[in-house]
Amino acid sequence: MEAITRVQRLAEAGIGQVPPQYIQPLDQRPIKPKSPSPPNNIPLIDLSKQSESIKCEIGQACREWGAFHVINHGVPLELLHQIRSVGRSFFEQCPIPEKLKYSCDSSFAASEGYGSKMLANDDSVLDWRDYFDHHTLPLSRRNPSNWPESPPNYRRVVAEYSDKMEALAVKILKYMSESLGLAPSCIKDAVGDFYQNITISYYPPCPQPELTLGLQSHSDMGAITLLIQDDVEGLQVLKDGDWIAVQPLADAIVVLLADQTQIITNGEYISSQHQAITNARKARLSVATFHDPAKTVKISPAFELVSKASPLRYHGVVYKDYVSSWYTKGPDGKRNLDALLLNS
Ligand code: OGA
Ligand code: NI
Repeated sequence: MEAITRVQRLAEAGIGQVPPQYIQPLDQRPIKPKSPSPPNNIPLIDLSKQSESIKCEIGQACREWGAFHVINHGVPLELLHQIRSVGRSFFEQCPIPEKLKYSCDSSFAASEGYGSKMLANDDSVLDWRDYFDHHTLPLSRRNPSNWPESPPNYRRVVAEYSDKMEALAVKILKYMSESLGLAPSCIKDAVGDFYQNITISYYPPCPQPELTLGLQSHSDMGAITLLIQDDVEGLQVLKDGDWIAVQPLADAIVVLLADQTQIITNGEYISSQHQAITNARKARLSVATFHDPAKTVKISPAFELVSKASPLRYHGVVYKDYVSSWYTKGPDGKRNLDALLLNS
C-alpha cells in the first residue's frame, strides 16, 4: 500500500549513492557561491526599532531580496525552541510505521499529514526531504487530532505557534503596505482571511549532496511565508543570479515574500526564489508557515500602485487557478508568476 519512499528510510539504510530519481539535472545542482564574495546573509531587520526605520529597511529588503530576517519580533523564543523540538521528536523518535499512520493523501495537493514528494511525471526529480503539513487557519480547518499525539505538547505547541505566526504576518504586511505609501491594511485586505499551513520539513543526511536538492528551486505561491530553521545551514535564496546561503540565526525568523504579494504590489516587491540544499553529515529541520489567500479570492495589482510611470504589470488571477497551474506545471523557478506578466 505504502508506495512512497521515505527519504529518512533511505538515509537510515546507509546507502552510499542516492537512487537515480533524486539526481538533479546538471543545471539544477547546487553550486558553490561565486567569488568575489557575495553578501553572506539576507538583510536583518530589528522590529524593536522606530517604525520609520523599520518601514524603510523592509521596503529596501522587499525590493532587492524578497527575503529578510526579523529579530525582536515578539514571538516568544521559547516557542521557537519548542516547535523545533516537537518536530525533531516526531521525525527522530517516532518509529516509521507509527509515522505512516499520519500519511497524507498524496492523490491531492497540499493534503495534511506526513509526506514525501512523489514523482509528478517522468522527468521530475524527487526532493531529499520528508515533511509534516498541518492545516492551521482558518480555525475551521484546524483539527489537531490529525497531528502527532506525541510528544504530549505537540498539538498545543503547533496551535500556539500558528496564532503567533499569524499575528507576525499581519504586522509585517502592515509595514510593507505603509512602506509603499498604501493604507496599513491594504495588502492584508487584498489577501483576505489567511489560509495558513505549517510545514515541518526534515532533511536527512544525504550521501551525495552535490547531486541532490532538499527542496527544488521555487518561490512560494501564497502571500507571505515565515520560516525558522535549526542550526544546520541549507536554505539558499537567489539574489542577482547567485545563490546566497541563509545563515541560521537562532532567535530570528526568516520572512519570504511569496508570489501573490509580488502581484499585489505590481512587482514593486519581489517574491523570493529559494531552495534547500542537503549535506552529508547532519539532519536539518525547518518550520515554514505559509499564509495564503482563500482559493476563491481574486488577486490583482493594487490600483494605487498603477500609474503612467508605473504601468500595470500583471493580469489578475483567482488564487485557485494559480495553485492548480503551480501543481500541474511545477514551480521551475518563477515560471507561474511570469506567465501572468502583461505583454509577455
Ligand atoms: C518551503 C521552503 C525551505 C526550507 O517549504 O517552501 O522553501 O529551508 N522550505 O525548508
Ligand atoms: Ni519555499
